[in-house]
Amino acid sequence: MNKVIITGSNGLLGQSLLTLFLKEKDKYQIFGFSRGKNRSGRTDFEYVSIDITNESKLKNQVNKIKPDFIINTAAMTQVDDCETNKQACDTLNVAVVKWLTEISSTINCHLIHISTDFIFDGKKGNYKETDTPNPLSYYGWSKLKSEEVLTNSKIDFTILRTILVYGKVYDMSRNNIVLWVKKMLEEQKEITIVNDQFRTPTYVVDLAMACKLAIDKKATGVFNVASNTLLSIYEIAQEIAACFELNKCLIKPISTATLNQTAPRPAKTGFDLTKTNNQLGLYPKSFKEDLKRFKEKLI
Ligand SMILES: NC(=O)c1ccc[n+]([C@@H]2O[C@H](COP(=O)([O-])OP(=O)(O)OC[C@H]3O[C@@H](n4cnc5c(N)ncnc54)[C@H](OP(=O)(O)O)[C@@H]3O)[C@@H](O)[C@H]2O)c1
Repeated sequence: MNKVIITGSNGLLGQSLLTLFLKEKDKYQIFGFSRGKNRSGRTDFEYVSIDITNESKLKNQVNKIKPDFIINTAAMTQVDDCETNKQACDTLNVAVVKWLTEISSTINCHLIHISTDFIFDGKKGNYKETDTPNPLSYYGWSKLKSEEVLTNSKIDFTILRTILVYGKVYDMSRNNIVLWVKKMLEEQKEITIVNDQFRTPTYVVDLAMACKLAIDKKATGVFNVASNTLLSIYEIAQEIAACFELNKCLIKPISTATLNQTAPRPAKTGFDLTKTNNQLGLYPKSFKEDLKRFKEKLI
């Protein structure tokens, strides 16, 4: 029986991990760490209400459980908020990873951490795990620092880099591109979407599976997790409209420059999935195919 702590168990990935792991209760004992109440809609795991930015509380709780694996999904993910509140971003996105690494080293625990395409500058696109990062935003910089905490440590770790994650879970505290575009178009609202940023969106079910494969295969190192076809965000919105049979004419293309966002975004990301296919045994499909799976689950 593997003991697994999921930090951020109230989040999109956190709740998706609960769904996946709790199907095999004979293999995994699950502990969820999140702020406030358990908002996952499930009670068949051990929930710990904790602010993980409290170092001593975090280390004490982890030490009490002595997990075999920690999956760290909690993060400050709003890119513009990170730019304006750098201290909070440093604490959650970097210091917490350092503390988890320190405690993991004393109890011999394997740490699985989630990173992002925003560690790259977006000039090249189709990034390999070995490409050189150059973050444009504070969020990207904080995630790169968190990766360095792990790569400079001696613990067993897995870094899963991912892109534009979407899905639906019991309690949605944050929106995501698919649900937002779908809702706006259903309400017949016109939306403006950038046509000069390119991404390979990630179905959260696949990201959760990548975490589980990392555990089951004890796969260490860095892996890319995303869908396999690069699209502009405008094309992504068009695919959403097509899948849910909504009015595409409501989607208007705009350029990034007109948005005036606080934090700069990389123009073209997307991942090379060769290593993930070969070593993790995960074969992500196109956004179009993933959307179909997502729609079937929604109905
Ligand atoms: N979403 C994306 O598009 C995307 C893209 C690339 C990488 N990622 C990475 O993927 C990971 C998972 O993302 P996600 O979309 O699942 O994030 P999410 O939905 O925002 O979930 C994060 C969870 O962590 C919890 N949390 C935040 N601060 C905490 C604290 N101090 N103590 C305890 N819990 C805390 C949040 O609690 P509350 O709900 O109470 O706030 C939330 O439930 C993150 O590392 C993110 O950086 C995400």
